[in-house]
Amino acid sequence: MTTDSESIRRIFNAIAPVYDDLNDQMSFGLHRVWKKMAVDWVQSTPGDRVLDLCCGTGDLAFLLARRVGSSGKVYGLDFSANQIAQAQKRDKKRAIRWMVGDALALPFPENYFDGVIQSFGLRNVVDISVCLREIRRVLKPTRQAVILDLHRPDNLEWSRFQQWYLEQRVASLGRERGLEAEYAYIAPSLERFPTGAEQVRLAKAAGFLHARHLPLIGGAVGALILSF
Ligand SMILES: C[S@@+](CC[C@H](N)C(=O)[O-])C[C@H]1O[C@@H](n2cnc3c(N)ncnc32)[C@H](O)[C@@H]1O
Repeated sequence: MTTDSESIRRIFNAIAPVYDDLNDQMSFGLHRVWKKMAVDWVQSTPGDRVLDLCCGTGDLAFLLARRVGSSGKVYGLDFSANQIAQAQKRDKKRAIRWMVGDALALPFPENYFDGVIQSFGLRNVVDISVCLREIRRVLKPTRQAVILDLHRPDNLEWSRFQQWYLEQRVASLGRERGLEAEYAYIAPSLERFPTGAEQVRLAKAAGFLHARHLPLIGGAVGALILSF
């Protein structure tokens, strides 16, 4: 099982060229809808400085750039140089500040951001508590952090369907591109990911006063909304 930072970084470096295409195929485009919802919840306004944490190829950063406008500033940070290179390639207007960096040791001062957003990243960091503490540290008081990710649904049938889907469709999409082992990593990452209620507890321990978890599509996806 892959649980160390270097192996995780290797996986995301390897899949970077096919990442966007496979995301669309795996979720039938639904990840775009969830990401738009997450961007709404972070409540950014023109002029804000916001962070897309574990940005990958930058879907959220591009959505945020429209919200904060030319007077605002969007940062996209990821520890995979290949994912950042893909994001930079997409950023024709050079609107976003892309950085290779570690979500567990953010290179920003305290209270720096008006909003922090993370999609499908928290499940992949090796220390969730440290990551939540870092988000809390760089976020301004009263502003929102929104963390979107996959979950294991509580409902047994739905959870079995998700397992089947990951083992069949997702594995075969990975196999077609010679990346089966890399995509096989999703199922075990779900097993060790804390439930929504546990995430709320961890967020409060990290210093957030307000933490709620919203299950989406029967709990197969969830959003953690945080402020202090
Ligand atoms: C599943 S991808 C999500 C990418 C993007 N946010 C999206 O929703 O399409 C997870 C990303 O987390 C990044 N990541 C994992 N651990 C990290 C860490 N400690 N610091 C920075 N990035 C990390 C990976 O490199 C990868 O790009």
